[in-house]
Formats: sequence, structure tokens, C-alpha cells
Amino acid sequence: MDSYKNLDIDKILEILDERVLQHTGRHLLKSERVLIKGSWYGRDYKEIASNSGYNADYLHREVARQLWAMLSEVIGDGIPVKKISLKPALLKLAKKNYFKLEVSKLDNNCLVGKTRIYGELPKIGSFYGREREISKLKNQIHVLKRRCIVITGVGGIGKTSLAAKLLEEILLENPNVYKDIVWIKIHSSVDNLFTKLINAFDIEIDNESIENQTLLLLKYFQLHRLLLVVDGFEKLGQIANFEKRLEYEKLFIQLSEGNHENCTIITSQLPLEEVIYATKNLPIDSLRLEGLEERAAMRMLNEKGLWGKECKELIKMHRGNPSELEEASDRIHRLFGGSVKTFFDYRTTVIGQLLQSMLHQQFGQPGLLSDVQREIMIYLAESTSESSPPIQFYNIIEALKKQIGLEVSIAEAIRAIEILEQRSLVETYRKSGKQEVSYSLQPLIRKYILVDPFNLVRRKTSVLQISNSIQE
Ligand SMILES: Nc1ncnc2c1ncn2[C@@H]1O[C@H](COP(=O)(O)OP(=O)(O)O)[C@@H](O)[C@H]1O
Ligand SMILES: [Mg+2]
Repeated sequence: MDSYKNLDIDKILEILDERVLQHTGRHLLKSERVLIKGSWYGRDYKEIASNSGYNADYLHREVARQLWAMLSEVIGDGIPVKKISLKPALLKLAKKNYFKLEVSKLDNNCLVGKTRIYGELPKIGSFYGREREISKLKNQIHVLKRRCIVITGVGGIGKTSLAAKLLEEILLENPNVYKDIVWIKIHSSVDNLFTKLINAFDIEIDNESIENQTLLLLKYFQLHRLLLVVDGFEKLGQIANFEKRLEYEKLFIQLSEGNHENCTIITSQLPLEEVIYATKNLPIDSLRLEGLEERAAMRMLNEKGLWGKECKELIKMHRGNPSELEEASDRIHRLFGGSVKTFFDYRTTVIGQLLQSMLHQQFGQPGLLSDVQREIMIYLAESTSESSPPIQFYNIIEALKKQIGLEVSIAEAIRAIEILEQRSLVETYRKSGKQEVSYSLQPLIRKYILVDPFNLVRRKTSVLQISNSIQE
């Protein structure tokens, strides 16, 4: 692949050394580096030996055997690493760390291949799993030619990281396809998406009206091949201004249907329709992101120095949510000397910051949760536990009517619970073959509702004030 030509083995060795250190607690030895470098260039043991002053037999019998076994563990992903398969394994490692290698100094206007990168692209550190999601997204972009894709999910589940990883892979595979890749981060509800886009593309405007700006943006979209990410879109949902939302809706109708070959990827805690009140069914694909699968989450914990059979339980308790796992592992190191077992002996659930601030927003921001949705969540929190079965839809409605005295139509309840599902606030269980759907809550959300740390849960949709710090 073209983009591998510039890869520098010394930089790859640095990354490999970091990995080896994490896994084994030691750095690569000089003789091992010599062997890796020689193998990278396709040299045999004799050549490597004569270039380095080591004895060929020593390299082959003493160094190589142990090195390949160790590298199989560290970077093999289940496939043994040998001299001949070292380069593909290193390329895979390089691919995973592409930004560190090639574009780690990304600034506004930096070029990768023929693609100009602009905006506040986040730096990606270690990244695990998500192969299925990435290949689905690539298919939506390259094969199905979708113009607009929304990645939704709770705070901290990994939307931003996934979008950044996706860009990284697209850039690596097709560095010359897009003219611009632009990353726009929405910081707060007062951000103006139009201005941000106009500035990002350096479009000159002669007239400030929204119609004019929309027109110019679409023209630009038709003329250039672009990949655009709008990250943190839910923040725009805090704008009360109805007109502004309609303007955004119009823009997205054009972006998703217009005559162009570009793609806009949006990350949002809320489904797009809830942010811009789309009145029309937009041809927008969405991907609801759940936690990491167990294998990936396990690698994440192992690399953070957590081991043992209790790790599985830790992953399950946090539903594979990477930011929750990050915080939990920091805490386990800090308070329990890195023992997951001891953590469970003092069994407690602590909610991480990102999920917590999302829940503050859901319960605190007026208009986000209806009274029915709020009551459903409270009822589920009070009536289920980690070990109890989920509750059937019909029983939830009955409980709302009888216990809470809430007059609620079936249609209203269905809509309410669908929205909770879309926002990943409830967990859904469908028995295969049968129609019945049951609902429960993940442990951290249940705990938040029961503890209600900021007194936001049991308030009705009256005027609520939450501090700015919570919203960010
Ligand atoms: N696939 C992943 N592998 C490793 N860490 C991840 C992964 N996805 C997310 N994280 C970590 O979890 C945290 C939250 O991720 P982020 O993408 O910011 O979530 P979101 O955008 O959904 O709020 C970050 O610190 C990030 O490094
Ligand atoms: Mg994010």
C-alpha cells in the first residue's frame, strides 16, 4: 500500500518497544532490535549477523526463538509471529498507530497524501476492538455512498474515538480520495455550525444571511470531495431557538440529499431528530454504539495492568463502556493496589464522569425527558436489580397506571420507551421467536437514579437549573 512506503522502522520500533514494556516489564534488547530491523528489510540471519557483529547462530538459536514467542503474545493477535510473518504483524501494529507514526503532529491545514486535514481532530491513544462498527461505517460510506451518518450512544461510550479511528483508517487506505477532511467539534449550544463550516472551508461570504451561507456551503460541497465530522452534536440541542433548529434541519436535508459525493459523520448522544426537530424523514443512517465487546475490553484492562478472572465481571458491570472501564481501572490501581478481586470484595459502583454528566443533562435539562419517560426510568430502577429478570412492557404500563397513577396511553408509552431505547438509557431484551420485549437498566444508570446525587431525577419537567460545569 502506497502509504506504507514512508513508514519508518525506527518509529515502529519505538511503538513496539512501548508495547513490549507494557506486556513484559522490560524494553527490547539490542540484539532483538537488530533482528527485527534485519527481518523488516528481508535479510537472512547471516546477513543480519554480518551487518551487526553478532554471531548468526546466536541470533538464530538464542535470540530469535524467544523473541518470536514473546512477539506472538504481544502483537500476534492469536497468530504466531515468526521471521517471515514479522513484517505483516508490524504493519498491522503501524496501522493501529498510524496517527502516532504519520500524522501525530496534525495541525490545521496539514496534508496527508492529497487530503487536507482541518479542525480539532482528537488524538487517539490506545484503541481496541470496534472492527465490526468500522467495517460497517466504511461500507456505508464507500459502497452505499451514504451522505450522512450519525453515531449515537451514551457519553463516554466511544463515539468520538470511533469517528477518529475511522478517519484514520480511511486516510491510511485512501490518502488521495478526499480533498478535505474536516473535524468540527461543537463546544456549546451557542456555537454556530454555519460559521464553523464557512470558516473551515475558507469560504468567502458577501452576505451574512443563512440562505446565502447554506447556498455557498452546498456549492462548495458539490465542487469538492469532502469528509466532514461534526462531533458532539447533541450540544446544539440545548438551543431553545426554534428558528435556528429549522435552519439546521434545512442544512441537513441538503447535506443528506444533495447532489454531491461527500459524507458527513455526526456523533451525538441524542438521535439527530431530537436535536434539530427534523420534520421530514431524512435519508440518514445511524449507528447506535454499545460498549466494547468482551475481548476488546479485556485487552484494554490487561494493558492497563488489570488481570484475573474478575475482569470479566468488571466488564459486564460497566457494559463494556470504555470510559467507565478507564476510570474504574484507575480507581482500582489507586485504591486497591491494582487488584480487581479486592475491588469486588468492597463491592461498590462508582459512576464515571462522562456518563454522569450525560445523566445530569438527561435528567436536568428541561424538555429532554418527559414525565412518562422519567417515571419509567424510576420504576425500572426501583423494581429491577442486577440479578432480577427484566420487566415486560405490559407490566411497566400497568405499574405506571396503578402504582404511580399516571394516565398514559399505550401509544404514548411505546413512544416514550422507544426514545429511552434510542438514547441507550434502558436496556432491551428480546426473546428470539417471541414478541415480548422486556426492559431493564444497566447498573450504573440504576445507581444514578436511586442515589439521585443532584436531586434531578425526581423533579418534573418544570424549570430546572443546572450548572454550566455539568453541561460541558
Ligand atoms: N475503542 C476504544 N478503545 C480504547 N479506548 C476507548 C475506545 N473508545 C473510547 N475509548 C476511551 O473512552 C473515553 C471516552 O471515549 P469518547 O470517544 O470520548 O466517548 P464519547 O465521544 O462517546 O463520549 C476516551 O478516554 C477514550 O480514550
Ligand atoms: Mg465525544
